[in-house]
Amino acid sequence: MKVLLIGSGGREHALAWKLAQSPLLTTLYAAPGNPGIAECATLVPLDIDDHGAVSAFCLENGVTFVVVGPEAPLVAGLADRLRADGIDVFGPSAAAAQLEGSKGFTKDLCAKYAIPTAAYETFSDAALAHAYVDAQDAPIVIKADGLAAGKGVVVAMTLAEAHEAIDWILADNKLGVVHNQGGARVVIEEFMSGEEASFIVVCDGKNVVSLATSQDHKRLQDGDAGPNTGGMGAYSPAPVVTPEMVERTMKEIIEPTIRGMAADGHPFQGVLFAGLMITAKGPELIEYNVRFGDPECQVLMMRLESDLLPILHAASIGRLDKVSAEWRAEPALTVVMASKGYPSSYEKNTPILFLPADGAGSKVFHAGTALKDGKLVATGGRVLNVTAVAPTVAGAQKAAYQALDAVQWENGFCRRDIGWRAVAREKA
Ligand code: AMP
Ligand code: GLY
Repeated sequence: MKVLLIGSGGREHALAWKLAQSPLLTTLYAAPGNPGIAECATLVPLDIDDHGAVSAFCLENGVTFVVVGPEAPLVAGLADRLRADGIDVFGPSAAAAQLEGSKGFTKDLCAKYAIPTAAYETFSDAALAHAYVDAQDAPIVIKADGLAAGKGVVVAMTLAEAHEAIDWILADNKLGVVHNQGGARVVIEEFMSGEEASFIVVCDGKNVVSLATSQDHKRLQDGDAGPNTGGMGAYSPAPVVTPEMVERTMKEIIEPTIRGMAADGHPFQGVLFAGLMITAKGPELIEYNVRFGDPECQVLMMRLESDLLPILHAASIGRLDKVSAEWRAEPALTVVMASKGYPSSYEKNTPILFLPADGAGSKVFHAGTALKDGKLVATGGRVLNVTAVAPTVAGAQKAAYQALDAVQWENGFCRRDIGWRAVAREKA
């Protein structure tokens, strides 16, 4: 099978690395890819916003299956176009991708199908939003209703912060949100307290295969302090998601979503990634994403024993009932190396002088790198994902940091405590 992978981050490097191991694969193309992905795929310089060009490339080169990594092309309808042209594609339609593209859509679905999530109201009128917040209390959560690359959420610990966030979103667009059609809207949510976990499943519109559990570290600094980021590290499995929590999450959150989406006329096919809050009451939905978590995908691919390609392809053609996913028992852990300054502004094109070779249980995934005049440079905020598997989380943590300490990149930094909760649990 000739496959095209869309994307250029660490998630896509992990997917490419795993897909490339499939005996069913003849050629793996990636667009636009990165230097790490280039080690396991042929890069093609396609403009992924030009859906016609992506489709034409597939038709001309005999590509029969496309795997879409990031959410933006899905929300923009790339999967619809490819499917209309007769190409199998792993990833939801634009209508189904609203689960990530529109928080209001997801909240309405939760209300309709009794899926546990924070209470909320949506506003486009700033005065009404301010009045609503005044009638509630802090902490309270203010979210932009659109794609915001992780920047559209403010967990306001005071009412003053909440009022400021409403103005940022509705008046000034200081968060740089891509608003949905119809203009800026703000979702105001009840604050949920608990431990977060990532619950990732693959769906074919009807059937669901749940993947191994994982947890990421969204905050910038050690001890889970500092601002929210896209994720500074992750590990799998996540001990907080016990078998009982898996069962409850499937029954109370995932299955009603999949049934509801099908009943409402937009069956969901692709990765459904539920950000969970494990509260005193049980699992509650924070948000949905319609793609693999990044960097959760990196640890999942390290642990996946089964061939990834038939799983993704079965999902794309509605045959997920025919496959299963097997996992190594050993935990995996990944540490993100980011450019100094991330998640705010940072210098681009800083040189990466040395990367350690892959070890028996370790692997460096490229997330934000490029080749300039034949030399490797850092181009993104999150740049490298140093990943390891070992018999214990403490062992995986040690192996990942050992590999990381061999990286020669002056402008890079990382957290030093990825996996701390699981390591503490292991010791207890
Ligand atoms: P989101 O982009 O919706 O995943 O939100 C980003 C982060 O904000 C989440 O990972 C949580 O840490 C936090 N968050 C979002 N919604 C809530 C909520 N209702 N209660 C508490 N924390 C939240
Ligand atoms: N690591 C969280 C995300 O991918 O959104």
